[in-house]
Amino acid sequence: MENQKIVEEIMRLKEDRNAIILAHNYQRDEVQEIADFTGDSLELSREAAKMECDLIVFCGVNFMAESASILSPEKTVLLPELEANCPMADMIRVEGERKVWKSFPGYREQPAFVFPHDFTLRDMKESYPDAPVVTYVNTTADVKAESDICCTSSNVVKVVESLPVDQVICIPDRNLSAWAAKMTGKKIISWDGFCHVHDRVTAEDVEKARKEHPDALLMAHPECRLEVLDLADHVTSTSGMLRYARSSDHKEFIVGTEVGLLYRLRKENPEKTFHPLRSDMICPNMKKTRLTSVLTALREMKHQVKVPEDIRVRAVKALDRMLEIV
Ligand code: 13P
Ligand code: SF4
Repeated sequence: MENQKIVEEIMRLKEDRNAIILAHNYQRDEVQEIADFTGDSLELSREAAKMECDLIVFCGVNFMAESASILSPEKTVLLPELEANCPMADMIRVEGERKVWKSFPGYREQPAFVFPHDFTLRDMKESYPDAPVVTYVNTTADVKAESDICCTSSNVVKVVESLPVDQVICIPDRNLSAWAAKMTGKKIISWDGFCHVHDRVTAEDVEKARKEHPDALLMAHPECRLEVLDLADHVTSTSGMLRYARSSDHKEFIVGTEVGLLYRLRKENPEKTFHPLRSDMICPNMKKTRLTSVLTALREMKHQVKVPEDIRVRAVKALDRMLEIV
C-alpha cells in the first residue's frame, strides 16, 4: 500500500477507535507527521495523563508506553513495535538476576561514585538507606516502583534540587548523574548505565564539529558524557533543544542528540541550519516504528502495554511526584 493510503487508513481507524497518536522526537519523519502530539519524555508523560481518548498509540520505546499506561490506567496503550525497547532502561534490575553489561559496545570503567553494573537497585538502597532514589524515566515500571521520584532529561536538576538532602541515589544513567552532580553540587550516587547512542560521542567529536562549523552553537543532551557537556553551549532535553533553537538569534547549530530531532528542528526553523554532532547518533529502537506498524497496531489493537496493578500504584507515585514539581 502506498504511504498516502496508509495514512488515510490510519486516520480513519484513529477516529473509529477514539485514539490519539503520541510520537517521541526521535521517531521517523513520516511517523512524526501523523502524530497528534510530538515531544520529549516529560511532555509525552504530561500529554498521556491529560488526553481525553480511549486509546493511545505510543510511537516511541517501551518505557514511554509503560509510563503512559501507569499514568492513564483507564486507557488502552499500544506500542506498535513490541521490540522497540531502550537498552539503558533494560540495564538496571531491582533485585535478582544481575545482567553483565561489560560486553555492551561503549562500555568503559567509571569513577568511584558509580555503582558497577552488576549491583542491583536493592544493593544501592541497602548501602545508602537514607538517600532518596531519583529514577530517570528511562527505566522499567518495577524500578520506578522502588523509587522516591522520577526525573527526565529536562528536569533532573530541578528534581534533585527539590530534595532536602545533600546525597541522592540517581539511576540508571551515569552521564545524567554526573551532569546533575555538577549542576546541583550534591553528592550523587550513580549506577553504571548509559545510552549507547549518546555515550559514544567524545570531546574529539566536538572539536571536529566545531572546526567544521565554527559559527554554530552546540546543543547537547545530558545523556552525553560530561566531557562533551562541558564543551556545549546549551545542555537540555530534545524539546529543550527545540525551544532553544527557536528563541535564539543564532542561525547555525550543532545538534548533540539522536538525529531524528533534526526533522522538527529544520521544519520549525527553515531559515536556520542544523548539523548532527555525529551522523551515526541513531537509535535503532526508535526507528523500528513505521507507518505500517501504526496501521497494524490500530487494526489489530496490539501490542497492549499494561503494568501489574501492585507495581503501577507504586510507580505512579514516583511519576506524580515529578509531575507535581515540574
Ligand atoms: P528526551 O526526554 O530528552 O526526549 O530524551 C529521551 C531519550 O530517550 C533520550 O535518549
Ligand atoms: Fe534509549 Fe538512548 Fe534510544 Fe533514548 S536514544 S531510547 S536512551 S537507547
